[in-house]
Amino acid sequence: MPAIAKQRDSSLVDNRLLKDPLLADVRSEVTGMNVHSSCHRKRKLRSSGAADSKDTEGVESARTPKRSAARESSDSTMDVSPWNTRDPNQMRTVKEALHVSTMPSVVVCREEEQMKVLEFCKECVEKEKAGCVYVSGCPGTGKSLSMSRVGRLLLDWTKEAGLLQPDVLDVNCTSLSRTSEIFSKIISAHQISTKTNSPTSQLQLLQTLYSQKPKPLKAKMMLVIADEMDYLITKDRAVLHDLFMLTTFPFSRFILVGIANAIDLADRFLPRLQMLNCKPLVVTYCSYSMEQIIKILHERLKRSHVVFQPQALELCARKVSASSGDMRKALSICRIAIDILEAELLEPQEDSNSPTEPLKMQDTIVRIDHMARALSRTFKSSVVDTIQLLPQHQQVILCSAVKLFRGRKKDTTVGELYEAYRDVCKSSMIPASNIMEFSNMCGVLNDQGLLKLGQSRQEKQRRLSLKVDEADVTFALQGVRFFQNCLQQS
Ligand SMILES: Nc1ncnc2c1ncn2[C@@H]1O[C@H](COP(=O)(O)OP(=O)(O)O)[C@@H](O)[C@H]1O
Ligand SMILES: [Mg+2]
Repeated sequence: MPAIAKQRDSSLVDNRLLKDPLLADVRSEVTGMNVHSSCHRKRKLRSSGAADSKDTEGVESARTPKRSAARESSDSTMDVSPWNTRDPNQMRTVKEALHVSTMPSVVVCREEEQMKVLEFCKECVEKEKAGCVYVSGCPGTGKSLSMSRVGRLLLDWTKEAGLLQPDVLDVNCTSLSRTSEIFSKIISAHQISTKTNSPTSQLQLLQTLYSQKPKPLKAKMMLVIADEMDYLITKDRAVLHDLFMLTTFPFSRFILVGIANAIDLADRFLPRLQMLNCKPLVVTYCSYSMEQIIKILHERLKRSHVVFQPQALELCARKVSASSGDMRKALSICRIAIDILEAELLEPQEDSNSPTEPLKMQDTIVRIDHMARALSRTFKSSVVDTIQLLPQHQQVILCSAVKLFRGRKKDTTVGELYEAYRDVCKSSMIPASNIMEFSNMCGVLNDQGLLKLGQSRQEKQRRLSLKVDEADVTFALQGVRFFQNCLQQS
């Protein structure tokens, strides 16, 4: 049996990561590790049922529409035995708690958004009136999770209140074979049989249905949670538009909760709806902060053994919140860190005489150096390398594009980006290139797949979009103070 390695090789930690000023207060922990006392805390057994039998393999991702496939974290995962990395069941339980398809039993940090939508839906059900909600925010901010919970909370509430329970349809729009299929899904959820396959007639059928006074027993409300609604955007946005407009018919019983990842969709889409007197409740999800990511990780892990050094979790949260605030990324990095620890424990240890010697607690939990390696594995990609090797002015262009696209638009023109680039140069007191040189540099970035440049007779009118993640640009350039300052300024 191989001896278990006790490896604290801080040289393996990505140097750039350790230079990261964001990590200043945890950097010192890499070498002088100090295991938090909570690691030794004894935990109580909450329930005797073993959830370990659940298999993490082959689980569909959280984005799949079939909610039944997603598992819910149970209260029964805690085990009395001490944390043992060699126990596959214990390992599996922890990884499962961090799996994206595991529904946490409590959704922390989204109480306000959840409550807003729930109260809105309750009022619709109570007053038997239609209504719509427009939820938007960056990926991984808990929109799908909290909105599907709203559906369940609404059902519980109507049951308790003795009201007629609404039908709830949770549909992920990416699963539709064509955008107009959403109408046939709603018809099926209403349990109406129809022979028509034409999308226009299906829409008309719903419009007619919501224009007529329903028979008393058929007055059930219908809640549709349309996730990944961005997928319904066609050139004329007709389907998306028709869908929202279904809530405006005189006898409509339709409550729509539309969830979009593109935050600029609202600017393009809502004014048109409002002109037609359809005014959805708009709920915006902000990216998670470091504190929120830590809180969520703690909540998800609270029924598992203490597997992470607190500083390791903090490092992950700090890095993820500084790049995208995407909880999916935080969960994935934590799982990678566990894999790194597992692999390390399987390595033979040269200076160990006794392979059966029990492991010390600090050697069997994810430390800050494991997390640093997981982070650099995740953020270091060929894109990052490419960005780091670019000439400085091309890096300034990317940096300007990141700032320009932050939060609102998806594309711009060469002329507009040139203005943004000139502003960055001016504020940093570096001489800007002229428009011709700038345009050539955009061409180079286009060839490298970092920007996408459209065609136009006029150079300044060429449309342009960013083809890399903001997180990759931020990560690649964070070692340079100039870019750090530039990216931090709004
Ligand atoms: N507040 C939270 N508490 C627990 N887990 C969360 C929370 N927010 C997000 N997650 C997890 O992060 C992942 C992404 O969340 P999701 O709701 O799919 O994000 P979005 O729909 O905004 O892209 C899921 O695995 C989800 O369980
Ligand atoms: Mg989602």
